Amino acid sequence: NEIKIFSPATVANVSCGFDVLGFCLETIGDEMVVRKTDKKGIFITKIEGFDLPFEAEKNVAGVSALAMIADAKPDFGFEIEIYKRIKPGSGIGSSSASASGCVFAINELLGRPYNKTQVTDFAMKGEALASGSEHADNLAPGVFGGFTLVKSTVPLEVLQLPTPKDLYATIIHPQIEIKTADARAILPKTFPLQDAITQWANVGSFVHALHTNDYELLKRALQDVIVEPHRSQLIPFFKEVKSAALNNGALGAGISGAGPSIYALSKGIENAKNVEKAMRAVYSETNIAFETHVSKIN
Ligand code: HSE
Repeated sequence: NEIKIFSPATVANVSCGFDVLGFCLETIGDEMVVRKTDKKGIFITKIEGFDLPFEAEKNVAGVSALAMIADAKPDFGFEIEIYKRIKPGSGIGSSSASASGCVFAINELLGRPYNKTQVTDFAMKGEALASGSEHADNLAPGVFGGFTLVKSTVPLEVLQLPTPKDLYATIIHPQIEIKTADARAILPKTFPLQDAITQWANVGSFVHALHTNDYELLKRALQDVIVEPHRSQLIPFFKEVKSAALNNGALGAGISGAGPSIYALSKGIENAKNVEKAMRAVYSETNIAFETHVSKIN
């Protein structure tokens, strides 16, 4: 009648795959406790870590949960405790972790009537509250694990991609907040065809690299000519941090989700830790507070 879950942080976009690619981190995430109640409805009873709304209709976890029970129609309700460890507006899927974790837990308590795609679909309702649009690139990796590609959102179709076993992520999170809706609003509505060609060649190559464990190709595919040129202006010292990562052994680096976190991918944990040091050195020389994480992709 009660379940405790870990809902992982995720990195969306992965440079070339805006709104479609994402991967799941192993070492950072929220915790949630969900329990059945006799009273019907969704009741958020505890939120620790950050100041977020308790009303279910205004909370991303609550909205996802309401969408699920509106469909499942159980004759009982759920009480939710949220132990938020992922800072909202950090770019590593804070709202997604709340949304997907909550419906994942409710699905388990209901006896698992929904598959992973359906669980992700309910979570998308909560995510839309946070970002102003329905996308699943942060949600799907949390529900499926590893790397995912969102083939379409209506209807939702998620492809689970293989993860090369020595791939590690380094994340640096400058302590400023960027709202996803704002980071989306600054993007142009149209792009030159040549840039679109470069981008979809990179997404295809990246997916091929994952399937063939081709780290050299993966390195060349981790390039974003569509979104990064615009959003990087919102992140202090982005160019310096990215160069530091690339000059110290990273396969690639870019904006994590809508930012401000910056991610890098490396082969092997030693490289990932060197990259962490190099990224930290950049912000250490400024007055910007930051946090870093190294994680296996899982
Ligand atoms: N793909 C989304 C974006 C992820 O970059 O706006 C953040 O929700």
